[in-house]
Amino acid sequence: MINDLWYKNAVIYCLSVETFMDANGDGVGDFQGLQRRLDYLAGLGVTAIWLMPFQVSPQKDDGYDVSDYYNVDPRYGTLGDFVEFTHGAKQRGIRVLIDLVVNHTSDQHPWFQDARTDPNSFYRDWYVWSDKKPANADEGMVFPGVQKTTWTYDEKAKQYYFHRFFKFQPDLNTANPHVQAEILKIMGFWIQLGVSGFRMDAVPFVIDEKGAEVTKSKPQYDMLRTFREFLQWRQGDSVILAEANVVPKETLKYFGDDGDRMQMMFNFHVNQAMFYALAAADAEPLAKAINETRDRPATGQWGLFLRNHDELDLGRLTEKQRQKVFQEFGPDKDMQLYDRGIRRRLAPMLQNDRRRLELAYSLMFSLPGTPVIRYGDEIGMGDDLSLPERNCARTPMQWSDEPHGGFTKSNKPVLPVISGGPFGFEHLNVAHQRRETNSLLNWTERLIRMRKEAPEIGVGVCTPVETSDKGVLALRYDWRGNSVLLIHNLNSVPIEVTFDVGLEEHGNKLIDIADHANTEADENGKHKLLLDAYGYRWFRVGGLDYLLRRTEV
Ligand code: NOJ
Repeated sequence: MINDLWYKNAVIYCLSVETFMDANGDGVGDFQGLQRRLDYLAGLGVTAIWLMPFQVSPQKDDGYDVSDYYNVDPRYGTLGDFVEFTHGAKQRGIRVLIDLVVNHTSDQHPWFQDARTDPNSFYRDWYVWSDKKPANADEGMVFPGVQKTTWTYDEKAKQYYFHRFFKFQPDLNTANPHVQAEILKIMGFWIQLGVSGFRMDAVPFVIDEKGAEVTKSKPQYDMLRTFREFLQWRQGDSVILAEANVVPKETLKYFGDDGDRMQMMFNFHVNQAMFYALAAADAEPLAKAINETRDRPATGQWGLFLRNHDELDLGRLTEKQRQKVFQEFGPDKDMQLYDRGIRRRLAPMLQNDRRRLELAYSLMFSLPGTPVIRYGDEIGMGDDLSLPERNCARTPMQWSDEPHGGFTKSNKPVLPVISGGPFGFEHLNVAHQRRETNSLLNWTERLIRMRKEAPEIGVGVCTPVETSDKGVLALRYDWRGNSVLLIHNLNSVPIEVTFDVGLEEHGNKLIDIADHANTEADENGKHKLLLDAYGYRWFRVGGLDYLLRRTEV
């Protein structure tokens, strides 16, 4: 069973085909390029890849504006290349998840074009229309400051249409049974081509009741069950990872009380608390967030991440907490975005301090859930704040010190490769870090190995363990008589902490599973540990005989 629920102990690597590796030299990354880098990803130890949208698109929102769901954008290759890629991944034991963007289409999609041209079109009701501009049209924008409204007048249709995101992304009327059937068909298509599931975009909006008359929307949670059911009939071990930035009390509605809805959800609540913890050296709100998101069905799993392709959304922190994170990690207006977040990459946010980078990654890997790494973070890539909005953190992968970081042979890369300064490809690149034993890349590989050797984190019960310092987070995971304990010092100074593992005698001996010494409790069962500034330790509790005690089923 533990291995059947593969996603519970997966290590997911997310990337955009466009900026990963260009094989044909046109400046744009492609599937053939990605295919050539599969051995790199296998070597790193990742077990699943999440691909950002690669379907046909006018690319006004980096592919999150799809105009044909059943094809690969020709800039990235062909369906044939895609299948070669999923096959190549499978041969290496790597699963593939892809983005499923069905809250909206591109306004260039033939469905929308047909719908707007003819009021009697079959597709008219696939979108959301209104004769009059609804009173709340200027509310609920997802990109404040850049997006002006959620209802735009269409000259051809002679009606307003609803768009939760940009105006070139008309919302699909997901309550329409034909639209729902089409969503299933899209899933079925890609499953047939070798994927293991989907990262579903904007889930709360997909299931929202939509329409001019809706003032307080009622989410249509049952839709999630329909998606899950269909997918599991088609391919039993496939999963949906939901992008749903919702408050903790709503999360069970997404997982389903009986585990009959989404298998996975990103834990945005913990993500924000984690950045606050790192900024304020205060572990308490993070422990609280972990407790608040504890409830989930046996098959439900959190997706954990540090940075992703969007801004770091801090919208759920208190004003004071948010200001603290801004002050530490994104003090300039130019580093902030949409009045709620930070658009930088992780390494520059943490002042490129290796100790803090290790702390952040080790912490994320030790929280309850499945870690998701953003491409380039394994080598500590930087950002380019001269690029607009979220593009600053979407620059091409830096492979070597060859021109354009070895990403492309073209002189016109799709986005400029970061050059010069501490983050320039000239010395920050994969080739360089492969050769250096202590590079961040090699450290990340070891971290991944350590996480795989501690499957309790993915499947066990997590208990925050009290320590003598509020800047230290200690988490214990128990699973079938096996336990691990992971400790992180958020403070910028060394700290001596005392704690009780809480497992009576079994907790007296802690075996270090990284590169430090073991430790034993005193006669009162208390451990005393000296942690480096930003230091972290991973322990197996009680002994190394866990392999003998563990049962697989
Ligand atoms: C969420 C995606 O992560 C983001 O990049 C995109 O702009 C919106 N959804 C709209 O699809």
